[in-house]
Amino acid sequence: MINIAVDGPVGAGKSTVARECAKRLGIIYVDTGAMYRACALFCVRNGVDIKPENEAEIAKLLNDGLKLEITLVDGVQHVIVNGEDVSEAIRENSISMAASAVSALASVRAFLLGRQRELAANNSVIMDGRDIGTVVLPNADLKIFITAKPEIRAKRRYDELKAKGTDITFDEVLADLNKRDYNDMHRKEAPLVQAEDAVLLDTSELDFEQTVARVTGLADKLGKLL
Ligand code: DC
Repeated sequence: MINIAVDGPVGAGKSTVARECAKRLGIIYVDTGAMYRACALFCVRNGVDIKPENEAEIAKLLNDGLKLEITLVDGVQHVIVNGEDVSEAIRENSISMAASAVSALASVRAFLLGRQRELAANNSVIMDGRDIGTVVLPNADLKIFITAKPEIRAKRRYDELKAKGTDITFDEVLADLNKRDYNDMHRKEAPLVQAEDAVLLDTSELDFEQTVARVTGLADKLGKLL
């Protein structure tokens, strides 16, 4: 059994890299951002404004009404909310900021923490998020903090959104990214911070294949995969 924690800011390439590494290492990829996105989508669909004053209402809504399932289809994670596959819907740009807002609430983090730990306890995983190495899996076998310069991360995110046909400018993407990072780094609950024992991986000058090679190289050194 092996647990790899991957954290970092928006658009650092965590999820694409972690997904590919999971495939190559023969372990499961868990995208915890998708869980926060699912909670945010559920709040938005139920007409609840995501703000600290509404925390009790949000906690009740999630605890009483949200049945969240994480399934794997051919190694790809799907997020199911009350029976509906919302894997695409949670990627909408409007849900990104809502997810950042909902993730600042202690009760929402508590709602998801147990599931995240359970997944890692029962499977070999590479799990990505913001607090995996610091809070969710403090005893992970390997912790990696992936980052890149903001302009580079924004360009990657911009290309991704454009490819999906989203009507947005580069400056808007950069501003959103900076705002989300600021929120994620400055919140009281489990802020985004590099764990002391995490390996820092700056991908500004690395392409996808080079980044994947670095991560799998670090994982191979663990020698615990077989
Ligand atoms: O990785 P992402 O962009 O899909 O994550 C969406 C939001 O969820 C992000 O702004 C911060 C939050 N998040 C978090 O607080 N903790 C995690 N472990 C993962 C995501």
